[in-house]
Amino acid sequence: MEVIREPGRLRERSDAWHRQGWVVGLVPTMGALHEGHLALVRAARKEADRVIVSIFVNPTQFGPSEDFARYPRNLDRDLGMLQGLDVDVVFAPGVEDMYPPGFQTRVELDRLPRHLCGLSRPHHFGGVALVVTKLFTASRADLAVFGQKDYQQVRVIEQLVSDLDLGVRIVRHPTIREEDGLAMSSRNLYLSPEERMRAPTLYRVLRALGDRVRRGEGDVEILREEGIRVLEDAGFQVDYLAFCDPWSLEDLPVARVPLLIAAAARLGSTRLIDNLEVTPDAGPVV
Ligand code: PAF
Repeated sequence: MEVIREPGRLRERSDAWHRQGWVVGLVPTMGALHEGHLALVRAARKEADRVIVSIFVNPTQFGPSEDFARYPRNLDRDLGMLQGLDVDVVFAPGVEDMYPPGFQTRVELDRLPRHLCGLSRPHHFGGVALVVTKLFTASRADLAVFGQKDYQQVRVIEQLVSDLDLGVRIVRHPTIREEDGLAMSSRNLYLSPEERMRAPTLYRVLRALGDRVRRGEGDVEILREEGIRVLEDAGFQVDYLAFCDPWSLEDLPVARVPLLIAAAARLGSTRLIDNLEVTPDAGPVV
């Protein structure tokens, strides 16, 4: 497993692989790897001949009052976790490798970021779109794997790839959960033991709401109000609980299937997000 820091070197490596006819897969991460990331790597391994994992805590997707400074960073530990997964290259650039002095390009989407997390994190998805564009062009990836826990991020990236003809196949991977249902996330590390015990309520609420919609309840206001009450009783401060179209992410006036139920809520200072896609045939996707 080779560690590469410069985008130019990564591009050379990938070009050489393509000359041999190999399919190149990318798993973009910000490090602090957990089982959820490893599942993405295994999925990439199945679909690609060469696998790149990027590890970069991207400053442009954090707002001024967000957790960029305290975001967990431990490259040695991350490299250890990737051992045995047959990763070919870890791309671990520094901030100056990605954003050298004089950098001034932006990548913005118009509508998708106006919903859900974009409402309280207005610059987040522009930062994600920018860094992902750079990761795609540096890696020349044929496919890239993203987890559905960050559902809005996946939709933003799918739209970006389509709008800019980037030619990267986006593979959506189902959310990986702890045994009690909590979606795996690097930010779970911030939870106190007491908060960690309460955290699975988020997903329990989403499932209960999904079941109700499936049984025919459509009144979004009632569903939202009741969901928020259960979350608040469990100690969450709710940022949003939304019933939206899974493609446009626009709020639906009446719940129907297919539906995305998405939530962001704080336990103490930790902001957790999760979502549930309610699909016509197979029941709530877990
Ligand atoms: O999901 C993440 O870890 C990040 O948002 C990503 C896609 C690696 C971009 O920095």
